[in-house]
Amino acid sequence: MKASAIAHSNIALIKYWGRSLDHDPDLNIPSNDSVSMTKYGLAHDVRLQTHTTIDFSDNYEEDTANLDGAVLTGRNMDRTLRVVDPLREFARVDSRFRMMSRNDFPTQAGLASSSSGFAALAIATVNALGIDFTKEEISKYARLGSGSAARSIHGGFVYWNKGDSHETSFAQQICGPNEFDMNAVIAIVHEGKKEVTSDVGHNLAHTSPFDAVRIKRSESQAKEIKKAILDHDFTRVGEIAEENCKYMHAVMMTSTPPLFYWIPETLRLIGSIQEMRKEGLECYFTIDAGPNVHCVSRPEDTYELRKTLDEIEGVIQTIPVEPARDSQAVKKHLF
Ligand code: PMV
Repeated sequence: MKASAIAHSNIALIKYWGRSLDHDPDLNIPSNDSVSMTKYGLAHDVRLQTHTTIDFSDNYEEDTANLDGAVLTGRNMDRTLRVVDPLREFARVDSRFRMMSRNDFPTQAGLASSSSGFAALAIATVNALGIDFTKEEISKYARLGSGSAARSIHGGFVYWNKGDSHETSFAQQICGPNEFDMNAVIAIVHEGKKEVTSDVGHNLAHTSPFDAVRIKRSESQAKEIKKAILDHDFTRVGEIAEENCKYMHAVMMTSTPPLFYWIPETLRLIGSIQEMRKEGLECYFTIDAGPNVHCVSRPEDTYELRKTLDEIEGVIQTIPVEPARDSQAVKKHLF
């Protein structure tokens, strides 16, 4: 009972930041709807995807998982089990598993490795266990590993309806990768692991006095940006995404303890993006729980944008991305 999957990471345009306090935190039910673009790296060795193989067999004495050559233990293994256990129970399988996973980009560098990681895990597990699930159903189980993974099941542009239970909190596609013209360039200014993971940060959001305002605004912005995507209104999408990103970082900076993910290079990039916009290259920034900056643009501007970002002091590397196709099961196994 072996299956493999390749899943893409995603960049949130409307952020998920904070679990709903009304539900079991392990369910990762968010406090607001969120919207993302699933991304496919245009650099040939960095596609921003995770390849995962899982095998269930009575030959295994215990569950084991390996990510990029390191054995998963503690919290990381717990999160893996949170996805696999309910599916194994659903399929009435008693066997232990062996799982192996590979990212083609650095884990925890602010490139959203958990979104592709748990999406690949959910898809591979469902296939290995022979469960006949829709993508929306798989999205619910990916969510149990990491919230943003719920969105990575689908390609293109994706809406995660927060819902109010395990059954109702899942992501749906707004439109496919070729139905809205938007690319992004990721400017990497720091490559190390982040000090406070989003997993921990989600529990702090409610301590910020601005959290309630962010939630309320995000709810209306999620609906508004969905409409803007369907209306092919790039300007509106960029404006809303940039605004929503600032709300999330305001909450991060004002929670207890405060989380400052930006470093001086992050602010320098924000300034340069505003400058480029004034000069006629229309682009907008969005930043997740880390210092690196995603800059969204029209596809025809990606080349020029990347060239400009590459020249900015402190930028280590740039990765152009386009909307990805759906994450899916693949025949190639890692073992
Ligand atoms: O899925 P998590 O727990 O890694 O949280 C993702 C949080 C952000 O990337 C900052 C925002 C988002 O919606 O992806």
